[in-house]
Parts: sequence; C-alpha cells; structure tokens
Amino acid sequence: MDNRRLIIAVDGPAGAGKSTIAKRVAKILNIEYIDTGAMYRALTLKVIRAKVDINNIKEILKAMETTTIEFINNHIYLDGIKVDKEIRENVISTNVSYIAKIKEVRSMMIRLQRKIAESTNLIMDGRDIGTVVLPHANYKFFITASVEERARRRYIELTEGGNESITYEQVLEEIKTRDRIDSTREIAPLKKSPDAHLIDTTNKTIEESVKEVIDIIERG
Ligand code: DC
Repeated sequence: MDNRRLIIAVDGPAGAGKSTIAKRVAKILNIEYIDTGAMYRALTLKVIRAKVDINNIKEILKAMETTTIEFINNHIYLDGIKVDKEIRENVISTNVSYIAKIKEVRSMMIRLQRKIAESTNLIMDGRDIGTVVLPHANYKFFITASVEERARRRYIELTEGGNESITYEQVLEEIKTRDRIDSTREIAPLKKSPDAHLIDTTNKTIEESVKEVIDIIERG
C-alpha cells in the first residue's frame, strides 16, 4: 500500500457479515476497524439504563449531552466504562433503530465518526458510511445477504450466547422491522452508494467474502 490515506467504507443491513468481514480486513491490512453500530448501541444502552422513554426525543437528547462514546484498543466505552458485551443484548438490538433515526443523534455521531477518520487509516462499518459519513472513502462496499440467512446467523449468535428464550421467527421479524426502519428513515437511510462494490454473502463463507474484498482493494 502506498503512503496515501486508506479509508474503507462498509455498509449493509443487520446480520450481513459486515463486522466480521471488516474486522478481518482490518487485520490483514493493519488498519483500524470502527464499528459505528456500536456507537448507536452505546447511546441506546445509556437511554435504556436511564429509563428514558424511547419516544421521548427531548429526554434522549438531554441524556446525549452528558454522554461520551469512545473506542480504545478496539473496545467501546460509554462514559468511561467498557460496554462491549452490554450493547449486544437483544433489548438494545430491538430499540437501537429508534435512537438511530433521530436527526440530532445522527449529527453527533457523524461528527464523531469523521473526527476518528481524520487521523488514521481505517475500515468503518455502518449504514451510511459510504453515502454520508465518508463519501470520499477510497473503497466502498455494500455487504448484504438474504433476510432469512441474516436471521439464521443472528439466531445462532443469540442462542449460542445463552439467550435461549428467542425463536428463529422472532429474530426474523426483528430483523425485518430493523431493516424497514433503517432503510425508510428520513435521514441517512440504509442504501447502497452507487460507487460501492456489492458483496452478497448469502452463499459464501467468511473467507470467500474477505477474499473478495481484499482482491478488490489490491486491484486498486
Ligand atoms: O450494525 P448494528 O446492528 O450494530 O447497528 C445497530 C443499529 O444502529 C442499526 O439498526 C442501525 C443503526 N446504525 C445506523 O443507523 N447508522 C450506522 N452508521 C450504524 C448503525
């Protein structure tokens, strides 16, 4: 790789394999990985812990004013405390889309994300990275998979993690709801940037998808 900055944007729906692929690509290229979904999840955790009504935008914004979200050594910190595990709980997954559609929340996150991207080579994943946050990224990928396959993966992840009370059908419904909210919201909806490479992971192994991404980057 030459001396110019390397900025890679990855977008796509929940469960498509974005973060798994992005993490591996980051390791191979020796660059940083930034999971922007984790940032929205961290704020959602704060709101839920504070028992703020998820529809009370005024209170959510008040909670946000006193919130710090940071990445330190690939861990996410909410107000100085590591919350990697807590942000993955299902209560966060089912509520995060409501937080992520608030205009002021998005502005704050975008500011933070651009600041992170100013100083380091990175691969950043989310929903609006190639379209809004880093439109000048060197490479853009839109990673997707069928909704059934994404639900299947998420179901395995949740049940392996000990959340035994959930069914596949519930997970499928939750993913469909999240897809709908994320792709129809007014501000920065999930959509493929026209210049993004489309990677469909439905029938691919992680290794195959990672190779596809690396091959595209190496081709320049
Ligand atoms: O990638 P994830 O499932 O951890 O993302 C959690 C939620 O955050 C997702 O439902 C949509 C929202 N999100 C967003 O709106 N914009 C981003 N750049 C990243 C995530």
